[in-house]
Amino acid sequence: MAIKAVKGVKDILPGSIGAWREVEKRAKDLFARFGFKEIVLPIFEKTEVFTKGVGEGTDIVQKEMYTFEDQGGESITLRPEGTASCVRAFIEHSMFHPPGSVTKLFYMGPMFRRERPQAGRFRQFYQIGAELYGAAEPEADADVIHLLHLFITAIHIKGPKLHLNSLGCEVCRPPFKAALVEYLSVRKEGLCENCQGRYEKNPLRVFDCKVEKCQQMVADAPTIDKHYCPDCTGHFGTLQKRLAQLNIPYNVNPRMVRGLDYYTRTVFEVTAEGLGSQNSIAGGGRYDNLVKTSGGPQVPATGFAVGMERLMESIGQPLEISDGNPDVFIIYMEEAADEANKIAGRLRENGVKVERAYKPLGMKNQIGRADKSGARFALIIGADEVASRTAKIKNLGAGTQTDCLLDAVVEELARLVSR
Ligand code: HAM
Repeated sequence: MAIKAVKGVKDILPGSIGAWREVEKRAKDLFARFGFKEIVLPIFEKTEVFTKGVGEGTDIVQKEMYTFEDQGGESITLRPEGTASCVRAFIEHSMFHPPGSVTKLFYMGPMFRRERPQAGRFRQFYQIGAELYGAAEPEADADVIHLLHLFITAIHIKGPKLHLNSLGCEVCRPPFKAALVEYLSVRKEGLCENCQGRYEKNPLRVFDCKVEKCQQMVADAPTIDKHYCPDCTGHFGTLQKRLAQLNIPYNVNPRMVRGLDYYTRTVFEVTAEGLGSQNSIAGGGRYDNLVKTSGGPQVPATGFAVGMERLMESIGQPLEISDGNPDVFIIYMEEAADEANKIAGRLRENGVKVERAYKPLGMKNQIGRADKSGARFALIIGADEVASRTAKIKNLGAGTQTDCLLDAVVEELARLVSR
């Protein structure tokens, strides 16, 4: 029996890689427009980067991490997300200098969570993430949301919706949590077993629970918007004003909490149409305390991550991309092996994408291969062509054919393919 890939992971095949790379390219163009620079982070970290960063009480840390002890006895974890890793690197490389400076980073790559696989949910999935450090102002949140909005527009996502909330701060969240615990404690029999166990420590998780009776329970539960302190009210109000000025549509959902513990104030998610239950293509928010709790100075931060697989599924119209097909297919007979080899080499040196047979098969066979390769032109060199020093250039789309001196074919083909 042939070995198959592990459950919940998948190959990205050559047929879809063109669109995938085009999406990455458009993201990179936008990141540059907003001043974000790329950082390449390790795929595994010391486990505590995530237990401390993402939060002990989260589903990710409690049940989804790929954690193992390496040969040196160190606990290692395959990164389940990028924010905590990026913060680790930000502190390790003292990127907070000079104090008050703003640092903008983006990353792309695989993340690992041992979730139950289903459509749109994988155990290895890819994220594009952006993190902005050093600005507590709502304008920084508006900037990262604007970037995400432009990205989603640039790749024509189907029915995108931006859901927005503020989770308050260390001043207004404790009284809100207390009110929520009080509300839940008198109704706890109506909660699912999981929520009964966690509501006292982590009452916000109940908002995220997918079990019907918990959803019904939180429909009338107290919400954070009734508890904001004046600073949080001001922050959230300004953010909404900035988004409106940038023509970014959004819905405020005071019941939206996120599955990671580090958020303060702003949180957001983008959903798309046609993805079923796993319809969140991006999520993010502000995390003003994570740098400090990870051992760095007090540096506010905000950011987001997009899930590539879900994004690719929700692209509404084909992206214009180079198909990766050859420009020229060289068809040659035995007598022309030397010329074919030299011309293939010179064309490639001149930036032309060339496909060739490695042995001179019959003419019909090679023409069939040239057609199948999707090449725009075929260069045909047989015994007669070598004798007359004249090759044939066939436009495979139009079906037309012209003669060209062998000494001039490189120049002529380079000219033709650049048009
Ligand atoms: P997250 O909401 O956990 O946030 O993940 C962001 C996106 O990654 C999701 O919206 C989804 O598209 C994708 N994603 C998550 N889990 C899976 C999965 N198992 N299979 C497929 N796609 C998945 C974060 O990771 C935060 N680090 C975002 C952030 C950055 N917040 C601030 N900065």
